[in-house]
Amino acid sequence: MKKVLLIGNGAREHAMGDALSKSAEVFVLGGERNPGLMKLAAEYAVADACDRDAILEFAERVRPDFAVVGPEAPIAAGVADVLMEHGVRSASPLAIAGQLESSKSFTRDLLGKYGIAGNPRFKVFLNEEGLEEFFAELGGDFVVKADGLKSGKGVKVSGDHLGSRKEGLAYARECIGEGGRVVVEEKLIGQEFSLMSFCDGMTTVDMPAVQDHKRAFDGDKGSNTGGMGSYSCADHILPFLKKSDVEAAAEITRKVAGALFEETGKYFKGVMYGGFMAVADGVRLIEYNARFGDPEAMNVLPIIKTDFVEVCQAIIAGELAGMKIEFENKATVCKYVVPKGYPDKPVKGEKIIIGDVPAGVRTYFALVDSREDGLYLSGSRAVAFVGIGDTVEEAEKLAQSAVEKVQGPVFYRKDIGTKALIDERIKMMKEIRGK
Ligand code: AMP
Ligand code: GLY
Repeated sequence: MKKVLLIGNGAREHAMGDALSKSAEVFVLGGERNPGLMKLAAEYAVADACDRDAILEFAERVRPDFAVVGPEAPIAAGVADVLMEHGVRSASPLAIAGQLESSKSFTRDLLGKYGIAGNPRFKVFLNEEGLEEFFAELGGDFVVKADGLKSGKGVKVSGDHLGSRKEGLAYARECIGEGGRVVVEEKLIGQEFSLMSFCDGMTTVDMPAVQDHKRAFDGDKGSNTGGMGSYSCADHILPFLKKSDVEAAAEITRKVAGALFEETGKYFKGVMYGGFMAVADGVRLIEYNARFGDPEAMNVLPIIKTDFVEVCQAIIAGELAGMKIEFENKATVCKYVVPKGYPDKPVKGEKIIIGDVPAGVRTYFALVDSREDGLYLSGSRAVAFVGIGDTVEEAEKLAQSAVEKVQGPVFYRKDIGTKALIDERIKMMKEIRGK
């Protein structure tokens, strides 16, 4: 059996570990003990996912065939680079290729330089020269983005986080002061979707499209979170998209993979996760992540038919072109249980009890503390339930029946995957596309 080193300890990594453990021994290194990963791991090292010394020590002892990195921080910190220097290759990108996620200006400039469609109107500023003029050009609707990794908190949108042009300018100045640069861009109107693609540097293979829900409460109200849940459909397209939208997004990703190699001389190995917006006249790129989405990983990995270990090996060997990667034609709905008060003032240290989980539902643990007498909240997303069915309706009912049985000071979004919410999105797209 192959040995795989998996870095990270969230629900995304639980889903990755679950898929890997079907045909490999999984060795986990993560900052906290994840009860799901503890159960499936051959060995579990508790250490920070960016701690190079701890990772090398573990890797030298375990001698894995390859590694996979879950979260963005260790990718940006060069964990795949360090492992490579010590003879362990990863199905995750080197830091230079990971800039696709760790620098928003790098990605916008890359699309611009290589003439790839998908950018909104944007400008990168290293100082204030021309800043006011560009805000004036964009009018009342704009988005201001800090350049580095900010766990989704570096992006501020007019009408949402920024009440006026004056506030936009002030935030842009703050970003220049703190990070040396800022991206200012046109505010796009449409529906967001995630398209994740396996990439070996030359070939990209797309996974089913997924829609995530970042806001804390039903009806997309409340603070932005790491993601409260997500759904995907049996045909691998979302109900508010046309097939051509997904194809356009896939084409952008394919071209970006090529441009990235031209630009850096390194192949991107891993998952290119594009956050796209379907707009009136097509598709735009919001951002790339250089890893699986959380929760999106939990929509796609439970339905992958091809051996995930083989997929990772093909990514590393540059052999994706010869490989057929298949997903079941099933719909999935993922709902996260989170502590009351999440994300702003989450309760911590309180006990939760998971009820009976029906057949057809997967349970993935995120940040919960597993003690002798049960599970305790750690302040972040706690547990995710994924319903799998022939239709989204069926998958939603399954996820809902598990999530509502959790006892303790928690909440979740009831509307994810429901017909009412999906119909609203279809209606919005029809309206902006004028048909
Ligand atoms: P990002 O970290 O780039 O994914 O941005 C976080 C969120 O900000 C996205 O999920 C979108 O909801 C929003 N956003 C980012 N860029 C734009 C844009 N150009 N137009 C409208 N919304 C945006
Ligand atoms: N689904 C949001 C993220 O993984 O960044």
